[in-house]
Amino acid sequence: MTQIIAHRGASCAAPENTLAAFEQAISARADGVELDVHLTADGSVVVIHDDAVDRTTNGSGAVHEMTLEQVQGLDASMGQAGFAGIKIPTLAEVYALLQKTNLTVNVELKENAYHNGFAVIPKVLELEEQYGMSGKVYYSSFNHYVLRELKHRSGQIQTGILYGEPLVDVWDYAEAVPADAVHPNYQVLQDANVVRQCHALGIAVRPWTVNQEHDLQEMFVQKVDAVITNDPALARAIR
Ligand code: G3P
Ligand code: MG
Repeated sequence: MTQIIAHRGASCAAPENTLAAFEQAISARADGVELDVHLTADGSVVVIHDDAVDRTTNGSGAVHEMTLEQVQGLDASMGQAGFAGIKIPTLAEVYALLQKTNLTVNVELKENAYHNGFAVIPKVLELEEQYGMSGKVYYSSFNHYVLRELKHRSGQIQTGILYGEPLVDVWDYAEAVPADAVHPNYQVLQDANVVRQCHALGIAVRPWTVNQEHDLQEMFVQKVDAVITNDPALARAIR
């Protein structure tokens, strides 16, 4: 059955990438959550989408130039009523919430090759171990060198290639990186051949960000392995 993964938590119901959004994902009975991580200047893994705090908080500046204390001093409610004062969580805080559930976690590594590079890798692997999340976590990135590096550390680590534009024979590319899954923008999956070819090679297909009823229906018909969606409750109703 196609898994339902709450994108940045249930981000239709609470501010993205906050503990409230992950609690909403549990309430909506999602199968998992997707979240984005960056490193602070003092080496903590924090859950935030952008390189900078400006869009999602009342602060300003690059995450990798701020300390954890500075990042967690900000309000991440994005002006949404009922969430005033909510913080940017650490990955550790999210794992503490999710470790007693069955939900999987798709950790999207946002660090790029230009600052911090692969420095986030040992940190996330350590947190996975520390919180007993092994077997429930898989990693994705638009930086496919990061995915290659993860696989180099251990073949057991599950990885997925993020991409937004059509890639020719992406199943061959996934084997070359190598990676266990492809995570395409759902709009490049209009050709069902991608799912068929990937599945023939044992490569999982998890499109994002599928929010509209007819698009969710199409993805379920194509038998993708997971849909990454802002609205896990809607996805469940359709599934
Ligand atoms: O991981 C799927 C999706 O989150 C990738 O794009 O920009 O929402 O992180 P973005
Ligand atoms: Mg993401």
